[in-house]
Formats: sequence, C-alpha cells, structure tokens
Amino acid sequence: MNPSSRLSAPKLVSSSRAQVPQGCAGDIEQILISAPRIHRRVMEMAQVIAEDYHGKRLIIVALLNGTVLFLADLVRHFEVPLSLDLIGVSSYRGGTSSGELEFTKRLKLNLRDQHVLVVDDILDTGKTLRAVSEELSKQSPASLKTCVLLDKPEGRTVNLEADYVGFIVPHLFVVGYGLDYDERYRNLPFVGVLHPHVYRKSSDQQS
Ligand code: XMP
Repeated sequence: MNPSSRLSAPKLVSSSRAQVPQGCAGDIEQILISAPRIHRRVMEMAQVIAEDYHGKRLIIVALLNGTVLFLADLVRHFEVPLSLDLIGVSSYRGGTSSGELEFTKRLKLNLRDQHVLVVDDILDTGKTLRAVSEELSKQSPASLKTCVLLDKPEGRTVNLEADYVGFIVPHLFVVGYGLDYDERYRNLPFVGVLHPHVYRKSSDQQS
C-alpha cells in the first residue's frame, strides 16, 4: 500500500495550544490535536478521498469501536455513492496489547469486485490493519485502500503504511475522538494524552 500523494503529508503533532477542559484536566495530560484542527483535517481527507473515488461506487469498512466519531465526520462530507459496513476486531485490553486478534463482528456486505476503503482510528503496530486487510482481500475486492486518523510510526512492528493518514502522533497512549482507555474518554472532541496516574490507578486496583 502506498500513501496517497494527493492528500497533503500528515504532520507530526506535538501539542495543541488549546487548554484541557476543567472537567477532565486530572486525567488528560495535554491536548495533542484540538477539535477545530481535527475538523479541518477530516474535511481535507474527505475531499481527497471523494476525488480519488469519483465515478466509482465505494464500500467503507470501518473498525469498531474507535472509528465511530471519525467515520461519522468523514462520510458526511462525501458526495460519492457509498455503502457502509462495520467490522469488529479486538486486540487491546485496557491500555496494553493482548497480542491476540479476534474478529468480534463480521461484515454483512459482499466485497467481491467492489472498491473498498478500510477506516481505522489509529495505526500502531500495524497488526490490526494487516489482519483486517488480509481478511477482506479473501473476498477479492476490485481495490482495497486504508485510511487512519492517527499514525504512530514508532510503534510499527509490521511493514504497513496507510493510504490516507490524518496526523502522525508520538509514541504515547492517546484518547478522545473515539479512542478509549477502558471504554472511557471516547466522547472527548479532541485527541489528548492520558495522564499516567490513570494507568497506575487501574493497575493498582487490579493488583
Ligand atoms: P495496532 O497495534 O494493531 O493497533 O496497529 C491498532 C489498534 O490499537 C488500538 N490502539 C490505541 N487505542 N489509544 C487508543 O485508544 C492509543 O494510543 C492506541 N494505540 C493503539 C486501537 O484500537 C487501534 O485500532
């Protein structure tokens, strides 16, 4: 898979000038990507993807649950005919990788001879996107590309790059805009770095 040349290169994000809201200040160390910045980039991604698939029927396959906010914002800007399906893959428990990949929800749509775009929240080791791409390829789609909001290149253990990337983030655990820690923080409108005391609290409670 080759990165799309039409989308402007994703920037390495360090931190945002936005203030962490009072309500979650104790759990979020810093805002990495503010809500307006996400909005602008997702619009840009949608425009480029829509141009790339102009005149073609597109099937978007999104991974549950972390893509839900990104997916909703992305597809509402598309003016191409598309179908949507969701696939469930579980690879992480809490903040750390379980190492095992398990399909928790299968697709309903038939992908044979269709143009397919796989949408995920974050590309880290690359194992999830590779496993999903391999699974979907078995159905012989006409084309298969990948799109992620966030890319953590330092975490990569398999040789895989996404075709469309929103932002490059440092090797930190991030939450918000769909991404969770133990099913929390998905509703935050920005992407932020989780404060280490949240991990420590969870591991103290488990021990
Ligand atoms: P891999 O390592 O397979 O991971 O590329 C992709 C999946 O791992 C989860 N993930 C994260 N989730 N904050 C999260 O909330 C993170 O920093 C993070 N890094 C990886 C995510 O579910 C993604 O689909």
